[in-house]
Amino acid sequence: METLVHPEEPQSALKLMKALVYHGPGKKSWEDKPQPAIKTPTDAIIKILKTTICGTDLHIMKGDVPEVTDGRIIGHEGVGIIEEVGSGVSNFKKGDHVIISCITSCGKCEYCKKGMYSHCQDGGWILGHLIDGTQAEYVRIPHADNSLYHIPAGADEEALVMLSDILPTGFECGVLNGQVKPGDTVAIVGAGPVGLAALLTAQFYSPAEIIMIDSDDNRMGVSKTFGATKTINNSTVDVMEKIKSLTNGKGVNVAIEAVGIPATFELCTSIIAPGGHVANVGVHGKSVTLHLETLWSQNITITTRLVDTVTTPMLLKTVQSKKLQPNNLITHHFKLDQVIDAYETFGNAAKEKALKVILTS
Ligand SMILES: NC(=O)c1ccc[n+]([C@@H]2O[C@H](COP(=O)([O-])OP(=O)(O)OC[C@H]3O[C@@H](n4cnc5c(N)ncnc54)[C@H](O)[C@@H]3O)[C@@H](O)[C@H]2O)c1
Ligand SMILES: [Zn+2]
Ligand SMILES: [Zn+2]
Repeated sequence: METLVHPEEPQSALKLMKALVYHGPGKKSWEDKPQPAIKTPTDAIIKILKTTICGTDLHIMKGDVPEVTDGRIIGHEGVGIIEEVGSGVSNFKKGDHVIISCITSCGKCEYCKKGMYSHCQDGGWILGHLIDGTQAEYVRIPHADNSLYHIPAGADEEALVMLSDILPTGFECGVLNGQVKPGDTVAIVGAGPVGLAALLTAQFYSPAEIIMIDSDDNRMGVSKTFGATKTINNSTVDVMEKIKSLTNGKGVNVAIEAVGIPATFELCTSIIAPGGHVANVGVHGKSVTLHLETLWSQNITITTRLVDTVTTPMLLKTVQSKKLQPNNLITHHFKLDQVIDAYETFGNAAKEKALKVILTS
């Protein structure tokens, strides 16, 4: 009788997949890794259909996020098909199409119960950070029931990749924390995908002015088509003077920082009106100067936030109703195995006129 398994072959031979692996600052490669398997009953294994690259991945590649260690598969956004679920997963089954949230959350701990999924005691931002991420053929998602969202039949799956991270990030960390109100003057520093997501979702609240500030003229042009009332290129214009002249010397009611460097955070605190809100969104790798000697008396609020993704179900409804059309943020398409080229394009966004790049398996 023929044996099914060759005697020299270990019966538990790991199946391999391709993945983008971080090897320290500036070093990455598309290489073979073992396919992920269920580790705990609440896990799901997802076959990636579409993924993308985030500004945070660029920070990781710069070495700004030192918790990411050599050998880690990066990426924390994407949509896919469920390949397998653990015995403790009840909301999802093999074959379901899902949005992967960039935040993993148990839904049960003290922080999750407060809606602060980003600080889940058994999750938070771990994907492509502390555990292997989505720039791969397969990914393991812990706490699948609370960390995945069903994709409605007939939905534009590519557009929904924007719900993994950038739309909830721009909305929660920028617009909600900034407390954008009708009639406000809002400045958004950084017109990358996250800044543009803040621009799109700020309009839920009918601010009077939304001023986009960036050094990339292409992104300024895109901002105008997405609803910015003014744009300022801060590489050629003195932003403080310009904001003064636009606001009768008062400054803006809300300043959203969506870059992640000291200069842009300090810019936000220098253009804020008394009583205003500075909402930091950017991931920072360096300390910044906080000018309390001028700010102490200005009644301002400064907020920080890691995205919680608690607004994902609401944002999904606005995408389904076409109030939000996040597919407009997609500029480039690649096959998943061209991910290194995709990094080149996204990393040279001004030259390439790139916003979100989509990688398809
Ligand atoms: N808080 C969170 O939970 C969270 C989640 C996701 C992303 N982020 C962070 O949000 C930030 C934006 O992400 P993104 O994907 O849009 O990144 P991105 O790199 O595509 O965009 C950054 C933008 O900043 C502009 N910029 C760079 N230097 C500038 C300067 N000196 N002045 C003005 N503009 C400048 C660039 O031209 C670019 O348009 C990043 O720091 C990212 O890590 C935070
Ligand atoms: Zn991200
Ligand atoms: Zn939790």
